[in-house]
Amino acid sequence: YRRLRVALLGAGAVGSQVAALLRQHGDELADRAGARLELVGIAVRDPDAPRDTELPRELMTTDPEPLLVGSDIVIELMGGIEPARTQLLTAISAGADVVTANKALLATHGPELFDAADQVGASVYYEAAAAGAIPIIRPLRDSLAGDRVQRIMGIVNGTTNYILDRMDREGADFADVLADAQRLGYAEADPTADVEGYDAAQKAAILASLAFHTAVPLDAVHREGITHIDKQMMDAARSAGFVIKLLAVCERLVGAAEDGGDAISVRVYPALVDREHPLASVHGANNAVFVQAEAAGNLMFYGAGAGGVQTASAVLGDVVSAARRHIAGGVGVGESTRANLPVVPIGQMTTRY
Ligand code: NDP
Ligand code: HSE
Repeated sequence: YRRLRVALLGAGAVGSQVAALLRQHGDELADRAGARLELVGIAVRDPDAPRDTELPRELMTTDPEPLLVGSDIVIELMGGIEPARTQLLTAISAGADVVTANKALLATHGPELFDAADQVGASVYYEAAAAGAIPIIRPLRDSLAGDRVQRIMGIVNGTTNYILDRMDREGADFADVLADAQRLGYAEADPTADVEGYDAAQKAAILASLAFHTAVPLDAVHREGITHIDKQMMDAARSAGFVIKLLAVCERLVGAAEDGGDAISVRVYPALVDREHPLASVHGANNAVFVQAEAAGNLMFYGAGAGGVQTASAVLGDVVSAARRHIAGGVGVGESTRANLPVVPIGQMTTRY
């Protein structure tokens, strides 16, 4: 097989698992990709810090530059806006395909990265940036590209679902369960992103952009977190036959634009979900996404929404896709955001499902 040079930026909860799987399953991945994926370096802040998996010390570095300009595929798993943005732009302009799970970056600088990739015929892969291990980016971008999506509704943050679920089922304390979510590798480096709904809002912006072929700016997403939810509210919801879930809802509002055309609404907020509703039985750090499309009807995607090794599955799927495209000499996968539907601040808010 031809060798492709793969660089990894970040070896935390997700990155350490990606590195381990790349090395453990090298032969199988080579068969699937049609190329041997050679891990050439891992950029981190502290090369001597303990890791979740065993990684060769000689691959660890604090200097990403040689990796950015000398690799075929660059995987970014550091999180945050900078230096991730600058490093990915450097890698793209050097001709690399890039894979990232960084929804904060994509929701704020996605168009910049996609344009940079288009200019050099490279691709940006980001299946892990929404709903962890669940395949949802490709279904929306590719499988449903011939349909018209009307609505997406789901649970897209594992940490908050884990917290709310344990508060509901065990009467657990918010702070204790958040600490568990951090220990289990579900939470963001700054868990405010999870509990205040920023992470879910970023994912909702990404999903809505794909579903409605419109660049949805993050500040157009209505966002509420779960920090005000207490035991009393949980108990009240339970005795009324509901459970509280942090939902992301993205929908097409027919005729809601000022010119009479369609608009979209994207919002994240804790909602009362009927205990009989399928979303009520999404437990732990799992996520579930319902997609309603004009021709396809109702589709449901369910699985692990967070977790290092689970998310590594989605990242490695992207790496195999990037490798296949790379060796086929293909051009980049463009993003289709030409519909330009206006995003209305909040539309037809429903608080009970
Ligand atoms: P972690 O915080 O566990 O790991 C981050 C890694 O990046 C660490 O290895 C850290 O190095 C390295 N890093 C951070 N900043 C820098 C920097 N400036 N220069 C070099 N290295 C840096 O994050 P996760 O693995 O949890 O998440 C990674 C990405 O994946 C994020 O974008 C996150 O949103 C996304 N994601 C995470 C999921 C999860 O379940 N955890 C699920 C889906 C997506 P060091 O170890 O030396 O400090
Ligand atoms: N912190 C995120 C979550 C990781 O809990 O959903 C997965 O994107």
